[in-house]
Amino acid sequence: MSDGPETATTEAAPGGELKALIAEARALLAPAKEAFSGANDLKQLEDLRLEYIGKKGKLSGLNRRMGKLSADEKPIAGKVINEHKAQILDLLKSRKEQLEMKALSQQLSGERIDVTLPGVRPARGSLHPVEQVTQEILGIFRDLGFHVEEGPEIENEWFNFDALNMPDNHPARDMQDTLYTERGHVLRTHTSPVQIRSMKKLDPPMAVVAAGKVYRHDSDATHSPMFHQMEGFLIDEDVSFGHLKGVLHEFLRALYGADVKLRFRPSFFPFTEPSAEVDVWWEAGNKWLEVLGSGMIHPNVLENGGIDPENFSGFAFGLGIDRLACIKFQIPDIRLLYENDVRFLRQF
Ligand code: DAH
Repeated sequence: MSDGPETATTEAAPGGELKALIAEARALLAPAKEAFSGANDLKQLEDLRLEYIGKKGKLSGLNRRMGKLSADEKPIAGKVINEHKAQILDLLKSRKEQLEMKALSQQLSGERIDVTLPGVRPARGSLHPVEQVTQEILGIFRDLGFHVEEGPEIENEWFNFDALNMPDNHPARDMQDTLYTERGHVLRTHTSPVQIRSMKKLDPPMAVVAAGKVYRHDSDATHSPMFHQMEGFLIDEDVSFGHLKGVLHEFLRALYGADVKLRFRPSFFPFTEPSAEVDVWWEAGNKWLEVLGSGMIHPNVLENGGIDPENFSGFAFGLGIDRLACIKFQIPDIRLLYENDVRFLRQF
């Protein structure tokens, strides 16, 4: 657009400049329509906006020329220019909407989601190795006709010690090993108190197994302050050590295979008399491994459970489940079981 010389020439005829301004404003519309509808992206559109209605644009050029009009003509020219500016703004707006729609639908078709593709499946958890072994052992004893009981982890000292023939001065009650809670209670140090709870609850004959967590103040490669035990016992008339041997042999055959070799080694537990520890022959390591403690239930223990030792006898045994899990899965350090590292746990 050319400002200077043209203005000078139209100045001569009064009313001529107004007519020229109006004509020029009108003449802008047709090319503007064509240009705006031909704009193919937002950048081109912005260029057109500047060309037509920007500060240095065509309509502003017309505006500036209004200074040469008479006071009567100014409002007329101003109105015409504003109307044209409004029309160009409309052109801009509608083309902008079209382009934005186009951009959006292009983006959407690019981002199209194929709902028939297979999804990402959440990782599947599995039973902890200790739980697997627990289930397996409980299953073997269920098959042998044993019934499953449970007991509390915060246990009364009487059930945990006294009732099991472990008097007040017994070394196992030492603060070094036992985790005491409030007066008269401990975190159970073994599952044996379930024997007493079950005796009080059931009438003989009874064959019970109970598995769960136990706690001791102890931690190294073969000891964790929390670990798992399983207790088992059977009470009836005339139960003998032979029954104990038969049941444990059956159990260890089911767990380690029909040709398992075991030996009973004399031992001592306050709650059994006589007592024995059982070792299993570990072929790969070429040595005996201690797997459980057992014995004939001490008459005092039967009495504390409310059972008459004159009429009934029984056997009991207790084993460390974590130890069995370590042997079964060849885990070198018992503490690995409780770090909850999924890379470790996934292997089982
Ligand atoms: N309670 C014993 C412990 O924690 C294990 C045990 C040994 C349990 C002999 C028994 C048993 O029932 O007869 O080490």
